[in-house]
Amino acid sequence: MKRRFTNIGTIYGLDHQLKKDAQSMAHVETMHHAYMEVSDGNIIGLGSMDNLPSDQIEQVDLGGRSIAPLFVDCHTHIVFAEPRVREFEDRLKGLSYQEIAERGGGILNSARKLAEQSEEELFAHAMDRIHEVILTGTGAIEIKSGYGLSPEAEWKMLRVIRRLKDEAPIPVKATFLGAHAIPERFAGNADAYLDEIEQVMLPVIQQDQLADYIDIFCEQGYFNLGHTERILKAGKRHGLKGRIHVNQFNSIGGIQTAAENDALSVEHLEVLSDEDLNTLRNSNLFAVALPGCSFFLKIPYTPARQLIEAAVPLVLASDYNPGSAPTGNLLFAFSLANVYMGLLPTEAFNALTINAAYCLEVEDQVGSITPDKRANFMVLKPGCELASLGYNVARPVIDEIYLNGSRYSRT
Ligand code: NIG
Ligand code: FE
Repeated sequence: MKRRFTNIGTIYGLDHQLKKDAQSMAHVETMHHAYMEVSDGNIIGLGSMDNLPSDQIEQVDLGGRSIAPLFVDCHTHIVFAEPRVREFEDRLKGLSYQEIAERGGGILNSARKLAEQSEEELFAHAMDRIHEVILTGTGAIEIKSGYGLSPEAEWKMLRVIRRLKDEAPIPVKATFLGAHAIPERFAGNADAYLDEIEQVMLPVIQQDQLADYIDIFCEQGYFNLGHTERILKAGKRHGLKGRIHVNQFNSIGGIQTAAENDALSVEHLEVLSDEDLNTLRNSNLFAVALPGCSFFLKIPYTPARQLIEAAVPLVLASDYNPGSAPTGNLLFAFSLANVYMGLLPTEAFNALTINAAYCLEVEDQVGSITPDKRANFMVLKPGCELASLGYNVARPVIDEIYLNGSRYSRT
């Protein structure tokens, strides 16, 4: 099926290259007064309305509205059993996120709930969340395990993600996060839990192709540098690249360990020392900032301006999870990045589209309006421009979503 979108005010995000340095981060390639042709779900051509072809294919008149590629969310935990509203109230009464975790809440609370829920229920809830985030502009998504913390429950989560890959209308990638917290049955003995991860969980994950990446929560009170190195090495042996949780509350050297063990990305980075920044500058790591988590936990925002000045490829993601970031709305992340991280609209846009696509290794399919990629795009409301994505705080800015060239609506 071939169709042509006409009368596009501005097409944003034509550039397909990864952006690292300040100059390229500040730039977004555009085309004004344009048309775009789509065939079999893929973009096949773009041009100026002044040179509109006269052949008789189906036309969709966008009436001067602008379009942009959908966002890529490279860090989420959307397979979970229940929200943790009580813990939110506890925090409002004065307990910290870490104090709640030390009392058996947090990730362990989510793990207890997940163990009780069927694969079917988990799948239905996660699919609902995918549809929810498509409406706020997400066009590809990474999903982590990590609320299982036992072989059966981790495999269960990963099977749910595999089914989401098959049935969701957007690209999905799976990350194995068995080392998210030390389960109660291994309390005080993280090494024994990592033995189980290596000897029991990973062989099955590899054999059944249940994951694309491996992750670990490298943090005081969770997993240390030795554990992080072990997980990254074990991942490598099982064909999984590392994308790790690091520097959320403390800088303990995890970025160096990630760089030495060829991880793909380091994610969170709310706390970043000069040494960390230097390591990043001299590495190939992506830096993933999660402003929704900073907002919700009232912790520092990742120093994104410093990362851009150091030419470290910057990515933004939602971290959608029931504890530290209970929203996958990337428009909200866009606004937070503008207001609290000092990012220009162009920088936030690049960090959420093309850079995020490279970080999730889906850049051949999504992340820009480029021929041969999927025609996955948002149509902005009349009169809206790129900066409106951050400016329209918690207000509608997207008029329509198109997936594979067809108008998306939840069926
Ligand atoms: O990215 N920091 C570790 N993991 C998640 C939170 C998980 C949870 O609280 O359920 C995060 O913030
Ligand atoms: Fe996370």
